[in-house]
Amino acid sequence: MALQPQVTEVLNNQINKELYSSYLYLTFADYYDDRGLKGFANWYEIQAKEEMDHAMAIRRYLLDNDFKPTMEAIDKPDKTFDNDLAPLEAGLEHEEYVTGLIHNCYEIAHEVHDVRTMQFLDWFVKEQGEEETNARDMVTNMKLFGSDPKGLYDLDREYQARTYVQQTALPM
Ligand code: FEO
Repeated sequence: MALQPQVTEVLNNQINKELYSSYLYLTFADYYDDRGLKGFANWYEIQAKEEMDHAMAIRRYLLDNDFKPTMEAIDKPDKTFDNDLAPLEAGLEHEEYVTGLIHNCYEIAHEVHDVRTMQFLDWFVKEQGEEETNARDMVTNMKLFGSDPKGLYDLDREYQARTYVQQTALPM
């Protein structure tokens, strides 16, 4: 059964938003790398890869359902930061925004009774919950410990330990 145009439109747009997320998180990684906080930079480099995985999973879903996606221009991330908390707060705000986009995709699939797409999006709904929690925890940790050099050092070590695991929204 072919996907409805409303569904392909929002999913195609979501590919663009995930690619933008990847771009955005690279700018966060660049900020922290420049600061000498290599652990924070590592965390956001991995996050950027995960966002690319999200885009690729949606692209693959569209292709497997006989729809050829269109790669639109990606916006330029335009935020600059002057303190170590600011990217973390921007990250939380961005993930809450993306959650809204994913929920909108789900609602549109629901409106046209597209059960297959709803099931596909289940993974993203869960993933967004986890990403919001991670982003919120990072804000909290920075507020609690970031003003103390030893606390900041420990946080940086913790984020250095994050390793990349390919995301599995689809059986790939
Ligand atoms: Fe793919 Fe963090 O949204």
